[in-house]
This record gives sequence, C-alpha cells and structure tokens, in this order.
Amino acid sequence: MRISVIGCGYLGAVHAACMAQLGHEVIGVDVDAAKVELLADGRAPFYEPGLPELLDEAMATGRLRFTTDIAEVAGARVHFVCVGTPQKRGENAADLRYVDASVTALLPHLAAGDVVVGKSTVPVGTAERLAERVVAAQPEATVLWNPEFLREGFAVQDTLHPDRIVYGVAPGPAGARATQVLDEVYAGPLSDGTPQVVTDYATAQLVKVAANSFLATKISFINAMAELCEATGADVTQLADAIGHDVRIGRRFLNAGLGFGGGCLPKDIRAFMARAGELGADQALSFLREVDAINMRRRVRVVDLVREVCDGSIVGRRVAVLGASFKPDSDDVRDSPALSVAAQMGLQGARVVVTDPQALANAERAWPSLTFAATAQEAAAGADVVVLATEWAEYRALDPVAFGEIVAGRRIVDGRNVLDPVAWRAAGWHYRALGRP
Ligand code: UDX
Repeated sequence: MRISVIGCGYLGAVHAACMAQLGHEVIGVDVDAAKVELLADGRAPFYEPGLPELLDEAMATGRLRFTTDIAEVAGARVHFVCVGTPQKRGENAADLRYVDASVTALLPHLAAGDVVVGKSTVPVGTAERLAERVVAAQPEATVLWNPEFLREGFAVQDTLHPDRIVYGVAPGPAGARATQVLDEVYAGPLSDGTPQVVTDYATAQLVKVAANSFLATKISFINAMAELCEATGADVTQLADAIGHDVRIGRRFLNAGLGFGGGCLPKDIRAFMARAGELGADQALSFLREVDAINMRRRVRVVDLVREVCDGSIVGRRVAVLGASFKPDSDDVRDSPALSVAAQMGLQGARVVVTDPQALANAERAWPSLTFAATAQEAAAGADVVVLATEWAEYRALDPVAFGEIVAGRRIVDGRNVLDPVAWRAAGWHYRALGRP
C-alpha cells in the first residue's frame, strides 16, 4: 500500500519506518528540513533504540522516502497524521495548530477513496471536526482515528507489535471502507492476533487520554503512598511489591520516585481536564488535578531531601545530577523531572552538574544556564551530594565503592528507588530515597 506519514517526530519517524518494514511504500513528510535531511540519509533525528537499524533496513528496500514537499503525498491511499499536540502556552489546553496545518496542507492532494488516519493525541471532538473538513474537500475521502500508544524507548517494538489496535470510524459505509483499508495496512500485526477495537470517533479519541490518565493516576497513587511511607517510616518499594501481587492491581507503573514527565502524560492529563471543562464535565476529572499536584510535589521533595542530607542548606554545595531525560532510553527532555530538579537546585544556590548518556545536547538547549558533564564520573568528581534522577542502566549499575572515591561527600538521593540501600550504606554512603526509611 502507498502510505504518507505527515510529521516525522518521535511518533511519525518510527511509524514511517515501521510501515515500510511491514512492506508498504512510505513517504514521510515534515516541515523541518534538517530533520528530513537526516532521515533521508537513514539517520534518526533523536535517540530511540532499534530505530537506526530499522531505518537502514527500510531505506535499503527503497520503500521509504522523506520529503518536505507535501505534494509528494499524492498517490498515497492512506495518510497518517502524526504531528505534535503540545500544551498551549499559559493554558492547560492542547495546541492543535500543527494538526490543523497538516490537514490544510493535505486537503488539495486528497483523492477519492483516500483515508486520513489521525494518530496524534487530540481533545475529543477534533476527529469529527477534521472529518467535516476532509469530506468537504473530497467527498469520497474519509477520516479514521487510530490512536497511538507507543512508549519512547520501546517505540519500534510497540509499533510493530502493539498490544491493541483501536479505530474510531465514521458511521456507515465510509467507516466500513476505511476499516478495510487500514486492516490491509495492519495485516501483519492483525494476523499475529493483536486485539482490535473498532468504535466511533469519540470513543477512540477518549481511549488514548483515558489510558494516559490511568497510567498517570497509577504513578501518582504510589507516590501518594510514598508520602504516607515517609510520614510513618514504611517502605514504599515493599508496599508496591506487596500490593502488586494482586493481579487486579499489578506491579507495573507502581515505581515510586520523582514521578512522571515527558511529552505525553503531563500535557495529556491537563488537556483532558481542559476539554472536560469545555464539555461541562469538569467534575469527572477533578481528581486529575490532584494527580498532577502529587506528581509535582515529588520534584520539590527531592530538593528537600538533598537539603536534608546537606545539613539544611544547599547554597554553594556541589550537586551531581545523574540523568537529564524524562526517562531512561530516551533523549527527550520535555518536562523532565530530572532537569526540573536540577534547575530548582541551581536557582536555590547549589552548584549543579548534570550528566546523561544521550540527552545532553537537548538538555543544554533547554537549560543553557545549567552545567553539564559527559559522564557520571565527571559530574560526580568533587560533589557533595549525588542525585539519581533518571534510572539509566549505567547509573543503576554504579559500584558504590569505586564511585565513593570520586566524590567529596558520600551522600546520595535515589530519586527513582533503584539502588540497593544496603550496598550503598555499606560503602559508607548516606543514602536517602523517596518513600523509604
Ligand atoms: C506514555 C505512555 O506510556 C504511552 O502509552 C503513550 O503513548 C505516551 O505516553 P512515555 O511518555 O514514552 O509513554 O513514557 P512512560 O514509559 O509511560 O513513562 C512516563 C513517565 O512516568 C516517565 O517520566 C517515567 O519515569 C514515569 N514513571 C513510569 C514513573 O515515575 N513510575 C512508573 O512506575 C512508571
């Protein structure tokens, strides 16, 4: 099938490469010429495990191309809209300008029978609005909403082997036709037995934000328990293990610590609250305000812990922050809890040095006022206190004895509850973590 992918960021670049891998002929379009140039050269514009290899393979087949010229989508039968929907400046709502602009650019090139597939995370009601525009421009084209659930760091695997495929379709024969076309696109994963839900536009759009809200709530739930653990001397990691054995609860996404960040969960729950308000259903989501507040409190608490281990003041103290990305195996620093903590400590007078295996370039662009080092060892040299902020495998594997030789003071705040307190304390470290005695 000939396919276009509009928007080649974290979502679109991976989606384009995976569609080519599934055997389709793919044209990826982006307005960012530098990004297109890298991709056309077979290079990934961001860090995502497995993507460079997949790009190599797909480019070698000749089935994957990239361009800045939207006119090249002509001839494709399916057009995936994969552009970003960031948070509006100074508001909770989602900024839909990129979605609207990409559909505007696409309209003149649509042919009868084309299917416009929305993958971006949008406020419920957007698909209906875009469908009207598409049908007005080309009465025999149709819109299908197909939310994406990929996790950064596992994006290739999540796209090739999704845990479910959701379609929101137009009523009547148009929806049935679009379903048939997309079933052909996803013939591979569907034949592997991937569960499929075919529903209306509103449900499909809600599925995505409901899923992210649930995940955010699960994380904030365990972080709220961490606050209780701190007040009582209990251990949140053991609490999570114990409640996680109940299959109705499950242990995944119950890792207490610095909380969630990134380009999705924080802005998606806020946009969902804003949309609920517009729909007169804001009470239904008022709990998400609390989820957001609990999450943000964790960042403050880490700074407080650093202050505690530094005997009450961080002014002039040398702090090493391990991790800048919002989670391991990603170079994405959007709303990164690690950088938020680093910046707060810097503003409060600490001398902060941040390191990260992949995200340094992005971190420096986002926070030019912070100081950066290439390795954990360089960041920690002469540090009074170390903060583990993003649980990269190489930080989890640090040897507390050898690492203790580098620092000026053996103090560590484990912001992700991933180090072994016994081993670190045995090596002479003052070890503190969130929700643990
Ligand atoms: C998320 C959703 O998981 C994905 O389905 C959706 O499509 C996009 O948003 P992603 O943003 O890549 O994916 O990251 P995710 O793995 O969900 O982690 C989000 C944040 O939660 C990270 O900052 C992570 O450190 C934090 N987290 C995750 C916790 O604090 N505790 C946990 O137990 C799990």
